Amino acid sequence: MTSEELRKQFLDFFKQRGHIIIPSSSLLPSDKTVLFTTAGMQQFSLYLSGKKDVVKDFKARHLASSQKCFRTDDIEEVGDDTHHTFFEMLGNWSIGQDEDGYFKEGAIKYALEFLDLLGLDKDRLHITVFKGEGSVSKDEEAINLWINNGIPKERIREYGKKDNFWGPVGDTGPCGPCSELHYDRGEEYGCGGANCGPNCDDCKRFVEIWNLVFMQYNKNEKGEYELLSQTNIDTGIGFERLISLLQEKNSSYETDLFKDVIKKIEEVSDKKYLEYKKEFRVIADHARSIVFLLSEGIIPSNVSQGYILRRLIRRSIRYCKLINFDFNSFYSLMDLIVKKYKDIYPEVLSTDYDVVRKEEEKFNKTIETGLQRIEKLLLSKENRTITGEESFDLYQTYGFPIELIEEIANERDFIVDKKGFEEALKKHQEISREGSEKKFGGVASDSGEMGVKYHTVTHLLHAALRKILGEHVKQMGSDINTERLRFDFAHNTKMTSEEIKKVEDLVNEKIKEGLNVQKQEMPLDEAIKSGAIAFFKEKYGDMVFVWTIYNPETKEVFSKEVCGGPHVDNLKDLGMFEIIKEESSSAGVRRIKAILK
Ligand code: SER
Repeated sequence: MTSEELRKQFLDFFKQRGHIIIPSSSLLPSDKTVLFTTAGMQQFSLYLSGKKDVVKDFKARHLASSQKCFRTDDIEEVGDDTHHTFFEMLGNWSIGQDEDGYFKEGAIKYALEFLDLLGLDKDRLHITVFKGEGSVSKDEEAINLWINNGIPKERIREYGKKDNFWGPVGDTGPCGPCSELHYDRGEEYGCGGANCGPNCDDCKRFVEIWNLVFMQYNKNEKGEYELLSQTNIDTGIGFERLISLLQEKNSSYETDLFKDVIKKIEEVSDKKYLEYKKEFRVIADHARSIVFLLSEGIIPSNVSQGYILRRLIRRSIRYCKLINFDFNSFYSLMDLIVKKYKDIYPEVLSTDYDVVRKEEEKFNKTIETGLQRIEKLLLSKENRTITGEESFDLYQTYGFPIELIEEIANERDFIVDKKGFEEALKKHQEISREGSEKKFGGVASDSGEMGVKYHTVTHLLHAALRKILGEHVKQMGSDINTERLRFDFAHNTKMTSEEIKKVEDLVNEKIKEGLNVQKQEMPLDEAIKSGAIAFFKEKYGDMVFVWTIYNPETKEVFSKEVCGGPHVDNLKDLGMFEIIKEESSSAGVRRIKAILK
């Protein structure tokens, strides 16, 4: 069975049983407390907690999906048989109860039926259940149901919270005990230990394939588990694991998901996968993740998701070097991935390879000297420790992500003084903050020079959108880092490419004209009377700053907005403005990502 067939069989199975198939949500969750979507249930969390009505919005309480997920905890583990950064999760849900809602019994029956359909031997299934811990009691109900459904007691094991209690995502929210289905691949894969079984630390005999979460609780802000007003089923299959099992491979890197990618790496590097498994797998995993992160419009930066992307690209560059794989061919790996996934997740077609090229150019300038510097450090040390200052220098001067420095050091049995690094980083940030405070007349700013430019260009963009699309355009949010700006605004339809071009042209025209930027302090009502736009009224105090961008000769005003600042004094040094993405953010809200070049 191919991976395409498995995905389809799963969704068809649940569709035939009254489930609505929901497309994967974005890798960037709307819940801002987490960086990425890490599970299929995330897009349903408001329905799972009962805050939103699933029947009203989806016309059903039974849903299924194949979801794009990304986990950052495992980046360093990638290279072994099972770990990935990007992966897929198949899941089915039953949200809330009525006569057609199902809970533990229904979830168990469906899981057993589907695995049987795939031809997996039920006699090899082992189940883990929650044994009870703290204030939450043992899941007797699940144990009895498994027994009633033909799983003998000796193949059911009980574990605590660490293994058999799921969630919440973040600090609060829906969660509950879970039952996992593990498949026994046979004694030949085992360690032979007396205690060997599911979750065995010493061997890979048992593969976890499906997690059934019985959501009964809500973890509140005080950390207590209160009963949810409704119960839900939330299940998740690790797609890569299941396909490996079905194709009888030890690792997903050997399945059809990565077959072409691995072959290509062999051809280009003239090395064998079997001899360089770790390097091949890191490159393959990261090429896939990079495609998916780029297709979400993420670009490399030093913060949040952008930093993860930067780490992945820079780590890939280093791993390519390790096996003499010409990084120019990394792009053909990305091609293969786009080809493999485009029918399921068409957004991969929008992958912008130039973003990787630019990042590559940046890192290429310093990687060789940086690697030499690390080499020298490692040779000169007797205490096998790279100090905070030294690692900060590698980070700052040569662009090595700290995790990559640590990884290289660890490979040689060195350690990095991570705390020292954090301190050096903090010290540096304080110094540059002081610098920018001076520059901007005392207005506190931690954005640095580029951040300030992006602040100002955000005003230009806002004004241009209102001129081109109409006055209904209203800022709904914005996010700035040193590499790009993101701007959310009220507008109902997708912008046409003509409109995008017009907005870009207008902003660039104003930059070229070198308009002045003026700051005035006044009471909020006076600011509004003067025609300044202020969409975050509740956030302002009585006195506000009004920033006016105007032509010093004609005095014509292009933009006038209430804002804390800081901003540049004059537009002439902003650079070229370019919109790199225009997409939907939520109903009635569009999102633009733009850069200054
Ligand atoms: N939320 C559970 C998991 O991530 C089941 O989907 O494993």
